[in-house]
Amino acid sequence: MKILITGADGALGTAMQRLLQKVGIVYLATDIKQLDITDFKKTNEFLLNYRPTVILHFAALSDVDRCEEESDLALRVNAMGTLGLATIARKIDAKMLYVSTNHVFAGSEEQPYYEYSIPKPVNQYGMTKLLGEHYVKDICSRYYIVRTSWLFGQKSKTFMSKFIITPEKPASIHVICDQFASFTYTVDLAEAILTLIKTDNYGLYHLVNREIGSWLDFALRAKDIMKFTTSLNPITTEELNLAASRPRYAPLGSRNYSFLFDRTMRTWKDALVAFIASAGPQ
Ligand SMILES: NC(=O)c1ccc[n+]([C@@H]2O[C@H](COP(=O)([O-])OP(=O)(O)OC[C@H]3O[C@@H](n4cnc5c(N)ncnc54)[C@H](OP(=O)(O)O)[C@@H]3O)[C@@H](O)[C@H]2O)c1
Repeated sequence: MKILITGADGALGTAMQRLLQKVGIVYLATDIKQLDITDFKKTNEFLLNYRPTVILHFAALSDVDRCEEESDLALRVNAMGTLGLATIARKIDAKMLYVSTNHVFAGSEEQPYYEYSIPKPVNQYGMTKLLGEHYVKDICSRYYIVRTSWLFGQKSKTFMSKFIITPEKPASIHVICDQFASFTYTVDLAEAILTLIKTDNYGLYHLVNREIGSWLDFALRAKDIMKFTTSLNPITTEELNLAASRPRYAPLGSRNYSFLFDRTMRTWKDALVAFIASAGPQ
């Protein structure tokens, strides 16, 4: 296996690099400085030269509100960048792994979304990531599409993840209480991705930690474990007045991974304990 990672400096890329180093698998880590995936000509040259056997495509404009405000950039990075990589993967006969999101779903019903559920994005992030999925499916024959949700871990840009790591905790914070989804520890996701790419079990997977919650549930659980004194004030999506709409209830139900691999991921509460332990004394 000769792996190339795009977006390797991000949250998932960082966890993936640590895992690959631990198990001694050769990889090349790239981020926008080394390989801007919106430049097809350069990306094509770069990959034809390096010739990976597996492409782990993690690069994205992952800030949901920025995608809404800069929709053209979101289209170029999330959709066109993926089109380019899918085209090259096919040319060099590499396996292609693309990470997508629960934002491909509307989130208007009180039910989890499975791999067979029908996508209907409500924001530019979800729309551009879904377009990326279509390109991968249409162009590649050896592909894995991994939908995941609410990543937490080292280098995650999510508010609660950064809050957990920071030693200087404020007296109080607002935490969103009316959106529900699955949480995913980057370390667990990296392990599941490694399991996938060692096989020829191609297709669509929902990979998240088990059980659902809101960010307020997550914060309360972290407070329980860490005993910090910050008071947690619930806030609604409407009160936050964000640029992008959010799916209100979009947990991911995972069927394909357990069926094909006879495995499930641990609960987010167990994963949170592991993350807090790895973050060291606060
Ligand atoms: N974070 C979540 O909660 C979440 C949930 C579901 C799915 N996902 C998906 O999971 C994947 C990994 O997410 P993540 O949280 O690790 O994201 P991340 O931390 O934002 O990492 C993505 C990396 O891609 C880089 N990048 C941006 N534009 C690029 C370009 N044109 N060429 C090359 N690299 C570029 C980013 O650089 P900058 O930081 O400079 O922009 C960043 O280092 C993404 O595909 C994301 O859509 C994430």
